[in-house]
Amino acid sequence: MSTDAIVLLKNDHKEMRKLFKEFQNTADDAKAKQGKLVGQILELLAVHTYIENEAMYPRTRELLPDLEDDILESYEEHHVADVLCAELATMTPDDERFVAKTTVLIENVEHHMEEEEDEWFPQVRQGLGRKQLQEIGAEMIALKKKAPRGPTPSSAAKASR
Ligand SMILES: [Fe+2]
Ligand SMILES: [Fe+2]
Repeated sequence: MSTDAIVLLKNDHKEMRKLFKEFQNTADDAKAKQGKLVGQILELLAVHTYIENEAMYPRTRELLPDLEDDILESYEEHHVADVLCAELATMTPDDERFVAKTTVLIENVEHHMEEEEDEWFPQVRQGLGRKQLQEIGAEMIALKKKAPRGPTPSSAAKASR
């Protein structure tokens, strides 16, 4: 299995899009299924955001200072998603705003993943060597083990700084 940081993150994105699509294809009245899918989305997002915030973004910022503005924007986008995730975690699928909030979360994350894949990853790939990307990837694999499995009380607040 590749430990290339960009390959790992793209795999997460792929899994995320699969869950998003499944949610969008779920019938309006299939509340239990909606709840289960949102639980899976919140878990995957919590882990993915954690490894980007703790490894991918700070390492890249150190090594490629020119990309700092993109990284700062990414932190803000993560923060918006964190706020929505924290709110969703307190709701049940029969809440009248549950689907609307999930839809806004999906739109935000889709946009963010597209920017990462289309604009940011190619610049990172160009700027960093294979070895550096593999080292960051290995660090992220290790971090996954201790990543939170869903929104934490501090996750939304912390990222606002
Ligand atoms: Fe991200
Ligand atoms: Fe990402």
